[in-house]
Amino acid sequence: MPTGLPHRVADLSLAAFGRREIALAEDEMPGLMAVRAEYAATRPLEGARITGSLHMTVQTAVLIETLVALGAQVRWASCNIFSTQDHAAAAVVAGPHGTAEDPQGVPVFAWKGETLEEYWWAADMALTWPDGLGPNMLLDDGGDATMLVHKGVEFEKAGRVPEPSTEDSEEYAAFLELLRSTAAAHPGKWTELAGRIRGVTEETTTGVHRLYRMDGAGELLFPAINVNDAVTKSKFDNRYGIRHSLIDGINRGTDVLIGGKVAVVCGYGDVGKGCAESLRGQGARVVVVEIDPICALQAAMDGFQVTTLEEIAGTGDIFVTATGNIGVITVETLSRMKHHAIVGNIGHFDNEIDMAGLAAVPGIVRTTVKPQVDEWRFPDGHAVIVLSEGRLLNLGNATGHPSFVMSNSFTNQVIAQIELFTRPEAYPVGVHTLAKRLDEKVARLHLDALGVKLSTLTPEQAEYLGVPVEGPYKPEHYRY
Ligand code: NAI
Repeated sequence: MPTGLPHRVADLSLAAFGRREIALAEDEMPGLMAVRAEYAATRPLEGARITGSLHMTVQTAVLIETLVALGAQVRWASCNIFSTQDHAAAAVVAGPHGTAEDPQGVPVFAWKGETLEEYWWAADMALTWPDGLGPNMLLDDGGDATMLVHKGVEFEKAGRVPEPSTEDSEEYAAFLELLRSTAAAHPGKWTELAGRIRGVTEETTTGVHRLYRMDGAGELLFPAINVNDAVTKSKFDNRYGIRHSLIDGINRGTDVLIGGKVAVVCGYGDVGKGCAESLRGQGARVVVVEIDPICALQAAMDGFQVTTLEEIAGTGDIFVTATGNIGVITVETLSRMKHHAIVGNIGHFDNEIDMAGLAAVPGIVRTTVKPQVDEWRFPDGHAVIVLSEGRLLNLGNATGHPSFVMSNSFTNQVIAQIELFTRPEAYPVGVHTLAKRLDEKVARLHLDALGVKLSTLTPEQAEYLGVPVEGPYKPEHYRY
């Protein structure tokens, strides 16, 4: 490390390039920039020490610098081994006022193509503040930072870190290894750290599932805000963001013509809906696989064929998993696919496609075509193409969602951080969602940029509907 600012990124000399893209992104992120202007004087995050674990992209750089502008100290790691944009990471370390030679920004521990051991090392570094105090806020995507702290505390209570079993994934084995080394070097580290954390704001569906499960089991150690289920997050990022970034990933990975192909989308939740729409937009014949009768019916009414994976395995040209569930595409399914069928996942974790099973097929040959694109040739000669080793392909093969949609998600993140940090009494231990008036505020901040002219209720109309003229307009149970 050449400087006093702790960091580990691929190449600090990329900072100037990163800064130019951050400047463009700022123009496309009106929500975040409005929040910066609104809180420039009051700096509500003064005293906040935020550890972030979220894809280190250009858009995340604008989020990080917004948190800093509001007074926070920040340390960052990515939440995926392939999702970091190295120029963005370098620019955040350099900072808006520093340079690659004289970095004055934020400590970032992230680069594209981390090993699993490096991934957990980086998460630990983001959680380990130099003065030993640790963070007092977490900003998480997928729940890995939250899990690290919770499992650390659990194992400290038990007095030992378990040995990985043969059932455990490589990733979990690397995670246990990290906890073993921290237990040896800093006994009691996680309990101490957890005690100082006021709360976590969680970005995605999968992380939110983990939080509700921990809360249900009485294991949650601090309050959490579920950012994902803000309407202006999940109904926008998960859907319209995916509509943009799914085909971006497929195109950059394979450059195969999508029109006319049979594209199979597993899962028709918010993300699956965005996938199906974008593939149809390219002229693919889209087939949906679902387990929930409501989502299956929605897919059918939206005009998609709905069938089982067993049925469509031999016909599909492109397969995308978007379920947030495990073992959706099995080795047996992969083995029945057409020659050079393209297979990718866009759900948060890499367990939707059985990659370990694929690697274990006797006689299978893996050829890396280019980074994050592998051909897996079965002994009978036919092959499938797997994107990003089964990790989320929009961030592995492309650059994730574009700035404008991430402005919605990240404005919710900033508001959630302010809420948890400044009004802890309003958020006891448990999982909370943001108030609807805040959701409507996030949407409002994005209307002008699109030239949207909003109509206003008359007092009579407001009275008739039983809502205030200035909102909120919908009851909590409204589904949009
Ligand atoms: P969701 O819960 O709205 O949708 C998932 C759908 O998958 C549900 O309708 C469910 O019934 C279905 N499903 C579950 N098991 C299935 C199976 N075995 N076969 C077929 N369908 C099945 O969740 P959402 O918000 O759509 O998120 C999905 C995943 O995408 C999560 O892991 C989430 O964290 C992730 N995500 C990824 C993003 C990215 O940029 N790559 C952005 C936002 C979310």
